[in-house]
Amino acid sequence: MSEPLSITVVGTGYVGLVSGTCLAAKGHSVRVLDTRREIVDSINRGVPTIHETGLPELLADVVASGRLVAYLASAETIGDADVVLLCVGTPSKDGAIDLGQIRSAAAMVGRWLAGRPRFASVVVKSTVVPGTTDTVVREVLERASGRAVGAAGFGLGMNPEFLREGEAIADFMHPDRIVFGHEDPGTLDLLRRMYAPWNCDTIPVNTRTAEMIKYANNAMLALQISAMNELANVAAAVGGIDAMDVVKGVAADKRWNPIGADGRRADPAILSYLVPGCGFGGSCFPKDVEAMRTLAASFGVTPLILQAVLDVNASQPVSVLGPFLKAFGGDVTGRTVLLLGLAFKPGTDDVRESASLRMARHLAGRGIRVLAHDPIAAPQAVADLGPGVVEIVDDWNVAIASADGVVLATRWPEYSNLAADPARLAGKVFLDARRMFAPGTFPHARCIAVGYSPAAAPSIDRKITP
Ligand SMILES: NC(=O)c1ccc[n+]([C@@H]2O[C@H](COP(=O)([O-])OP(=O)(O)OC[C@H]3O[C@@H](n4cnc5c(N)ncnc54)[C@H](O)[C@@H]3O)[C@@H](O)[C@H]2O)c1
Repeated sequence: MSEPLSITVVGTGYVGLVSGTCLAAKGHSVRVLDTRREIVDSINRGVPTIHETGLPELLADVVASGRLVAYLASAETIGDADVVLLCVGTPSKDGAIDLGQIRSAAAMVGRWLAGRPRFASVVVKSTVVPGTTDTVVREVLERASGRAVGAAGFGLGMNPEFLREGEAIADFMHPDRIVFGHEDPGTLDLLRRMYAPWNCDTIPVNTRTAEMIKYANNAMLALQISAMNELANVAAAVGGIDAMDVVKGVAADKRWNPIGADGRRADPAILSYLVPGCGFGGSCFPKDVEAMRTLAASFGVTPLILQAVLDVNASQPVSVLGPFLKAFGGDVTGRTVLLLGLAFKPGTDDVRESASLRMARHLAGRGIRVLAHDPIAAPQAVADLGPGVVEIVDDWNVAIASADGVVLATRWPEYSNLAADPARLAGKVFLDARRMFAPGTFPHARCIAVGYSPAAAPSIDRKITP
């Protein structure tokens, strides 16, 4: 690779810590900064503060080699950086993006730029709505530094991150594309040098386009999920249709799933977004679609589809519980339900906006005793839910015996063991809210699967004839 760069990463959450660790692993000299002392100390011991496959080994390696060091965030600890990456949080506040962390991080970087003797670029990696980098971030940086964007001042860029939690290291190391949003040639050059060890498509654009690419990407993925969930709800209502068969039929369209010269399917990852379920969660899709909807409305564009994507998703966890609760055949107060999975998806300890937590609250609100299990996310879930909503169980295999019903809410691989001994579900109500099992897997249970109702409507004539 070309000369290694000095890179300072501000914010060490999923994006900051993974980016910093991978950039250091590729040979750059990296500082990572956070405002929380416990995170800084843990990183310097080589111990990650988030759960990601492969991160403990890689972090331990780059810390031991001295290529990555963590500091408490300040203008002084930014050091001798060629590139400063802003990776702080951009949460949702009243439906709009909250730029508080971005503003304060940019002000800190601006103070550092004021005394910087040579050119450096500030690159936003956080997800921010189009126009943020070249207006808000630029203004804060210019005010705090007394310098302007350009060769004589500093560089400004936007490099959206597409990693998926649970697969973050693999995604960062093997991206499908890297977007080089930039406001000046110096920043484009530094981005090219920073990613020199990577070999993939690169997309050089202005910062607004870079920001829009990230939102459009998330909105289109969220759209697939909500659209298929709505279609699955229709299939279940009509009855006699399994939405998974419908998905198979749709996914065989070569525009979704191309057929190679050897006659084999490509089976792209997008197909997993078509599996019906209890809705999307996590720190990105819900807040990003909402932020884009709010931005659209503020510019006079009525965001009909973005609104529908959010509405379907907000109602889905409760909708899928409807037939499950009905199956108890009466008052559910005092019943015991075992909820399997609390993380918003497998492979992560992140419970932000998890559909599972919404289901937990709904069940508890109906007077049900909720036993809950997750291989790694239980502490985060309890902190989010507060006291009295769920009782965490360490061994779901034991807890299952005392449950009247079971809800599979997160596709953790270990839950596939349910099928190894189907008799354990005998006499219980089982909701497969992630379509992990084929219908018929549990013949002695009352099974409900999203998008499947075996009982066909006797006649649809009265429904379709006005
Ligand atoms: N999590 C994902 O899967 C993902 C994927 C792509 C993009 N993103 C985007 O990346 C950004 C970061 O996401 P995340 O999940 O890593 O967030 P996070 O909340 O996990 O981490 C943010 C970190 O920034 C720190 N921080 C806040 N202000 C700071 C400051 N002034 N100086 C130093 N540190 C500061 C916080 O203490 C925290 O550790 C968001 O905009 C998010 O939308 C996230």
